[in-house]
Amino acid sequence: MNIIWNKTSRQFHLYNDQISYIIAVAPSGELSNIYFGKRIRERDDFSYVIFRNGMPNIAVDADTESYSMELNRQEYPSFGTTDFGASAFEVEQSNGSRVSSFVYKSHSIFPGKRAITGLPATYAAEDEAKTLEVELVDEQAQMTLLLSYTIFEKYPVVARHAEFKNTGSTKVKLTKALSCCIDLPDQDYEMVQFAGAWARERIPEVRKLTGGTTSIESKRGVSSANFNPFMIIKRPNTDDFAGDAFGFSFVYSGNFLAAAEGNTYGRLRILMGINPERFTWVLKEGETFETPEVVIAYTSTGLNSLSQTYHRLYNNNLVRGKWKNKPRPILNNNWEATFMDFTEDSILKIAAKAKEAGVELFVLDDGWFGERNDDFAGLGDWVENPAKLPQGMAGLARKIEAMGLKFGFWIEPEMVNPNSNLFRRHPEWVLAVPGRKSSLGRHQLVLDFSREEVVDYIYNMLYKVINGASISYIKWDMNRPLTEVFSNGCPAQEQGMVYHKYILGVYSLYSRLIEAFPDILFESCSSGGNRFDAGMLYYAPQAWCSDNTDAIDRLRIQYGSSYGYPIVSIGSHVSAVPNQQTGRTTSIATRANVAYFGTFGYELDLNEISDKEFDEVKSQIEFMKEHRELIQYGDFYRLRSPFETDQTAWMVVSEDRKRAIVGFYCMRSNVNTLPGFLKLAGLDPDTLYRMEGKEYYGDELMNMGITLSEFYKKGFTISEDFASFVTVIDAI
Ligand code: GLA
Repeated sequence: MNIIWNKTSRQFHLYNDQISYIIAVAPSGELSNIYFGKRIRERDDFSYVIFRNGMPNIAVDADTESYSMELNRQEYPSFGTTDFGASAFEVEQSNGSRVSSFVYKSHSIFPGKRAITGLPATYAAEDEAKTLEVELVDEQAQMTLLLSYTIFEKYPVVARHAEFKNTGSTKVKLTKALSCCIDLPDQDYEMVQFAGAWARERIPEVRKLTGGTTSIESKRGVSSANFNPFMIIKRPNTDDFAGDAFGFSFVYSGNFLAAAEGNTYGRLRILMGINPERFTWVLKEGETFETPEVVIAYTSTGLNSLSQTYHRLYNNNLVRGKWKNKPRPILNNNWEATFMDFTEDSILKIAAKAKEAGVELFVLDDGWFGERNDDFAGLGDWVENPAKLPQGMAGLARKIEAMGLKFGFWIEPEMVNPNSNLFRRHPEWVLAVPGRKSSLGRHQLVLDFSREEVVDYIYNMLYKVINGASISYIKWDMNRPLTEVFSNGCPAQEQGMVYHKYILGVYSLYSRLIEAFPDILFESCSSGGNRFDAGMLYYAPQAWCSDNTDAIDRLRIQYGSSYGYPIVSIGSHVSAVPNQQTGRTTSIATRANVAYFGTFGYELDLNEISDKEFDEVKSQIEFMKEHRELIQYGDFYRLRSPFETDQTAWMVVSEDRKRAIVGFYCMRSNVNTLPGFLKLAGLDPDTLYRMEGKEYYGDELMNMGITLSEFYKKGFTISEDFASFVTVIDAI
């Protein structure tokens, strides 16, 4: 890994064993993207890539008349000079002009990586990464722009963000400040986006790119279940096992834009950052604005390897704290078992049975505080309801811990019900436009987290509940999008800052709670997977993936989530049947076979299942305890897509390739067809493995495949809806 500065050609070459990222100071002084892709050898000069011939009707740079930005590739384009494509930023200056031109001034290269103030970001020790920071300046605007690039030793990844500084004495206004731009030299690509809604999150959708703009975005104040802030730009023939692709992962949890713009000269511009719609940022004298980070990855060997890059990078260089790289506790959550209708006794009964089954952590979900007996009241009043918890959270935690279980509970700190003491005392603390009606979502309003005093107040209330009790886990929920976004704490000309300030408030509350309680495992949640993003993983190492706990739907949701996010971050539980969201009945075996590939837990009352099922649950928990380290941190391979066939399969392989676990699922039976084969991946071709008492070489399992009829004989009927198997493969 290194970053080379060629003084004569004025070019930077960032490289490691796998990738090269080459940037030039363009003839106009701006930064030009020369190359990003598979590693190429270092040369003094790559400027032959810069296109210098004039073409009719092209605006050229005044000082270097053969150079036009429109024909060349940009690192961080502005609008207003010779590039007519989408800009990466816009700054409104005191004279009203938005034309800017930031030109190279200086740079620094240093080992490791700097943090971004108040924002989540990947981190790296000095021997893990190198960072290039290029300082550009626009003298007329009296501003500097710092473009930051980090290359990691072990990963085919570059992390980017930008930082603006107002060095003048008058205010300027950023009206757009994306985090990165990459211009690719041709348009023969497809965009894979992860789209959905509540209960059907992160479903991959592929779109052919061409001239014009293809984009996804969120304007909901959360990254959203509708479009995830992660996209893949791939060659049309790239699949999970082969081919070129780039990943763009936004380390941010609020409004975002991800776009691919093809221009008529064949160039493809990729942009990602905070959604410029509803965004402005006022920079007073001496102030800076740092954008969130985008993690850009490249693969030449297919999407499984792209995903594995994100899995490893995020597990090692994004997730922090005690739970980093640790297998996660098997939990039992009472939500689908009781909803808000519980007493301490009924909770203890569920917990006792969970303990008997081998569960390690009990989680008390919504309904324990204020007047919270339904979802019309109580949010904002973070004080225990004595009718449900007579000895408070501390008392319940004590009793649960006495059983030999760890204990955790649910909060939704960003919200308030109009029917709450908090709202009655502080109606001005919500996001709302004075004089206009406020829209409700799940009967609740959003607290104005752009205001420090609101975050302080919630912190203090939560601190009291957590500090008094022995708490190992917190599920942090967020159940509605932001509407009527207006802050009473903000002057008129700064209202465009509220969406971003809100997220900064969320991050600051997370930071304060983590600092006060470093051992707590946080799980983020937002009506299921409405805020499942890399930003959240910096604070909460796991996320409730979806409120849809139906095993068959979960195959698609978890499969889609695995493209951008580590398996260990995917909250997955076994719940009761018929499933509460889909009405579908699947066996307890299939429900567990799906839930194993995530954090694993139970979302039901184990007293309610049959003795036979309870015995199965006990062995499921034993299985997960034995294998969770491998499942959660091994190399994950998607083998067969649930979007293309009626069967799906995935597997994990240990780093030394000595053990693997395969999950196979039949979503819909196909009568009178042959069972067929399932080709495995990631094994050592020359190693002899044992599977179900028989021996096979790795090359057989990967090239010929598992004969599914083997499992047919074991009682697994291929022609049975929702049948599944999980099998362990060991090197001999
Ligand atoms: C959201 C979550 C659920 C549960 C409920 C509680 O819907 O996604 O898991 O916690 O809130 O109200």
